[in-house]
Amino acid sequence: MQLFIDTANVDEIRTAAGWGLLDGVTTNPTHIAKSGRGFEEVLLEIFGIVDGPISVETVSLDAASIVNEGRAIARFHPNAVVKVPVMIEGLKAVRQLSSEGIKTNVTLCFSPVQAFLAAKAGATYISPFLHRKELAGDDGISLVREIRAIYDRYGYRTRILAASIRTVREVLECLRAGADVATMPFDLLESLYKHSMTDAGLAMFLDDWKKVPPTRLFADLAAAR
Ligand code: E4P
Repeated sequence: MQLFIDTANVDEIRTAAGWGLLDGVTTNPTHIAKSGRGFEEVLLEIFGIVDGPISVETVSLDAASIVNEGRAIARFHPNAVVKVPVMIEGLKAVRQLSSEGIKTNVTLCFSPVQAFLAAKAGATYISPFLHRKELAGDDGISLVREIRAIYDRYGYRTRILAASIRTVREVLECLRAGADVATMPFDLLESLYKHSMTDAGLAMFLDDWKKVPPTRLFADLAAAR
């Protein structure tokens, strides 16, 4: 499963990219607004940090304008993925953009049938929103599970990009459900690496290591320090 970061904060993206396991970025109009910077300026910096798929969202409501926005986003950078909300005009645009070889990410998906339509339109990615569904009292992860079953059953190649994830548990559920990608905020990405028992175990090992007589094996390292 690929790991994407869901933000337009370049400091967070740079730090997460430095950990070596980041595959891509998803942005949305809220993230761009929060960055407090100009659209092109912040995108240009993001494309320079991560060499992977970067989703950039369209904001038009009719198909012709979405297609124009999508073409402009695709021209902006070869790694750009045009993010389009799942709606009639959006899916008309996705069909056109995919026929032109432009990668798309159909977003704001809350039902398996919407995911089916996105795949039929030729979307590269579908973004089911897990946690927002949970907040509405629904089972977020079953959405991913059902989409997986439909895509496998009918051979759709659209990739499942699980979005709106808030907890480590939800990341684990995405792995179990067969999501192709999980995108998440910086803090959650960081907390995937952490476990209190790892910290406690490491503290104990390092403490015990002080009782071991000096070794020549690490002499070069010690000299370099
Ligand atoms: C995904 O691409 C979205 O940007 C994101 O996950 C939005 O969800 P959230 O605002 O609930 O986190």
